[in-house]
Amino acid sequence: MITKPKGTYDIYNEDAKYYQYINNVFESVASLYNYEYIRTPIFEDTSLFHRTVGETSDIVSKETYDFKDRGDRSITLRPEGTAGVVRSYIENKMYGEINQPKKLYYSGTMYRYERPQAGRYRELSQFGVEVLGSDSPLIDAEVISLAYRTLETILGDNVTVMINTLGDSESRNNYREALVKYLEPHLNELCSDCQNRFKTNPLRILDCKVDKENPILKNAPKITDYLNEASQKRFDQVLDYLRLLDVDYEVNPSIVRGLDYYNHVVFEFSLNEGVNATSIVGAGGRYNNLVESLGGPSTPAVGFACGIDRLMLILKEKKEIDINPNIDVYIMAVNEEERTKAILLAQDMRWSDIKCDYDTLDKGLKAQFKQADRLNARHLIILNSEDLAKGLITVKDNLTHEEQKIDEAEILDYIISNL
Ligand code: HAM
Repeated sequence: MITKPKGTYDIYNEDAKYYQYINNVFESVASLYNYEYIRTPIFEDTSLFHRTVGETSDIVSKETYDFKDRGDRSITLRPEGTAGVVRSYIENKMYGEINQPKKLYYSGTMYRYERPQAGRYRELSQFGVEVLGSDSPLIDAEVISLAYRTLETILGDNVTVMINTLGDSESRNNYREALVKYLEPHLNELCSDCQNRFKTNPLRILDCKVDKENPILKNAPKITDYLNEASQKRFDQVLDYLRLLDVDYEVNPSIVRGLDYYNHVVFEFSLNEGVNATSIVGAGGRYNNLVESLGGPSTPAVGFACGIDRLMLILKEKKEIDINPNIDVYIMAVNEEERTKAILLAQDMRWSDIKCDYDTLDKGLKAQFKQADRLNARHLIILNSEDLAKGLITVKDNLTHEEQKIDEAEILDYIISNL
């Protein structure tokens, strides 16, 4: 038997309901905020991710699925959604459109060669948004609150926004200098990955999972002490708007994010209860230099992405949404004449927005009753040749347990007015 690749799983039955529920909530919230849908390819030219996510990031250095296609091109399965959206924005000259800023949302699978565990997969699904063309703290607050409201709808009152700023390049450079100076004498006490990060991207050390509890990192200088006036003011404005919008946040100076493209505001959505490796259900930030670094015009941008798989796990534990099957009508038929009537009736009902089903396994009446129960059918239509000859149809309302014979011509109206 061929089995699924390591780090992947099939979404079906109960999982499929959770998956669709999460996507539906997100899509309707994104549409209320006036965001447009975008779909970009699942594979892209390898260099796209090296130039965006960053050569030294964990994602690019250890986790991408890279391969040569049959035309000898270097291809990478997307590890995240932002790079593809930015590539598409530039390639399709969206910066020249009249409606600005460009507010886009997406949902789909991403691929990271990580060590699989609960809530961490090699094929993962994210939903997210990217706003291109606005540098306003208003948009930072909008993006954060859109994610927050989506998560609140899905998870209830269980999410806090952990927020920080990386400041502008002047603030960041000053901070990097102070951090390097502080860390240099302690290098031997850090993990081997951090010793490499010290050379390539010292800020990333603050994000280390291994050294998280190391007092050296806990006592390290904080970015918030190195912000210049403009960066501090910007950050304060974002926080003011978040308070105005009633978003629960906590400033956390150790959030630096694992991807290279961020500046100014960065944030993570963290669960208030059950904190573990998978309690970060989403993350994002501003990335004002990315469009230009990929050859587009200088364009400020901000976005977030949430992990759908993690949200599914949490929802499943809580079991708060109704995932039981239910249909409006189950139609029962045993002989050929009744069956022909059943498929015609089902067609009429389906085109009148009535959810219905009937037996296709040649089962007897008793088994059909059982199937109707399993599907939680609200009404049963029990066809029989004698009734049909008189133009009548037997209907049983499973809620009131009332059974009656109805004129065939009136059956649709009857069901519609009794749902
Ligand atoms: P990220 O932090 O790499 O950011 O991923 C966002 C979320 O995806 C994480 O918080 C987590 O919930 C989920 N996630 C990541 N890796 C896995 C995995 N292996 N298995 C299951 N879930 C996972 C980004 O991807 C950025 N593109 C976010 C962004 C958008 N920044 C600006 N715009």
